[in-house]
Amino acid sequence: MTSHDVTLEWPDGRTRTIAVREDETVLEGAERVEIGLPFGCRTGACGTCTGRLLAIDGTKRGDGVDTGGGDVEAAFAYRRPPRALKDRHRDDGYVLLCIASPRTDCRIAVGSSVHTELVENPWK
Ligand code: FES
Repeated sequence: MTSHDVTLEWPDGRTRTIAVREDETVLEGAERVEIGLPFGCRTGACGTCTGRLLAIDGTKRGDGVDTGGGDVEAAFAYRRPPRALKDRHRDDGYVLLCIASPRTDCRIAVGSSVHTELVENPWK
């Protein structure tokens, strides 16, 4: 079974690179090596597990051609529809790690703060 190197980056600067198989989600791959990532429903409905795609295969998002939401679609296969994300979130690189399996090496921002980025602050 093919696997891909997925580098997880936390807001405090910690990083871990794990090999995630194409038949498991990023969340499952992290749990296999005892890395705790936030999750809730595990069905793509709550958004708790949200990560943000930073780079594919060492290429920064947005380098070269503007591929918009194609970045996430190229990097992951979803097991089921990502109901917790709006189209604009997907276009911005957000990805639900509980249902997303990697299709390429990539870097992802993780941690509970990524989910809070999705919620607009009405007082801002
Ligand atoms: S854990 Fe709920 S959407 Fe992933």
